[in-house]
Amino acid sequence: MRRTRLDTERLVLREWTRSDDDRAFLFDMYRRAEVRQYLGNGRVMTDPAEVDATIDRWTSLADGILGVRAVETRDGRRLGSVLLKHIPWSVGAGDGRPEDIEIGWHFHPDAWGSGYATEAAAAVLALAHENGIRTIVAVTNPANTASGAVAQRIGLRPAGETADYYDTTCALYVSEADA
Ligand SMILES: CC(C)(COP(=O)(O)OP(=O)(O)OC[C@H]1O[C@@H](n2cnc3c(N)ncnc32)[C@H](O)[C@@H]1OP(=O)(O)O)[C@@H](O)C(=O)NCCC(=O)NCCS
Repeated sequence: MRRTRLDTERLVLREWTRSDDDRAFLFDMYRRAEVRQYLGNGRVMTDPAEVDATIDRWTSLADGILGVRAVETRDGRRLGSVLLKHIPWSVGAGDGRPEDIEIGWHFHPDAWGSGYATEAAAAVLALAHENGIRTIVAVTNPANTASGAVAQRIGLRPAGETADYYDTTCALYVSEADA
């Protein structure tokens, strides 16, 4: 079953668009140090034009299962993103193996503390497993306890630290679908 839109008890997940409201929300999220703190090099977004390139990249990933989905309340309040995508190996780590699939979550601070990331990510994890993606990983900065908590709430197993991805050391969480 291929579908980008997902509905949960409180939330709707859908594709990001280049609408003014989507672009404004994403810029307002990624310009914040508390959101970027544990993401990549931590650099905040300073130019709204960066959002367009980001949305275009996400649109190119969407295949009905993989993709970066907007998460909003049923009455249309944007909250954040849940991503499901290939994860790049660190240099020398992949050894010719196909890339793993990672799940991740970026939410606006106004949306923290309500269980929204957990609810949205659980739906994406279920979709992935239902569609034959057997192994899903999540990686976080080891200091990002809020993110690790989301991973564990949706059932990912803590698997220590790894240097296999993104050329850095991350806390690793893994979900294996039942055979
Ligand atoms: C990681 C991140 C998404 C976690 O957000 P979060 O709000 O803590 O996570 P959830 O949406 O699952 O909410 C859980 C909290 O809501 C509370 N909560 C309130 N109502 C709830 C409900 N109905 N259901 C579940 N939890 C609820 C939980 O008790 C928990 O609170 P606690 O943190 O005080 O224990 C957020 O910190 C973030 O976006 N950070 C910036 C980006 C980032 O670092 N992403 C991860 C990259 S690896």
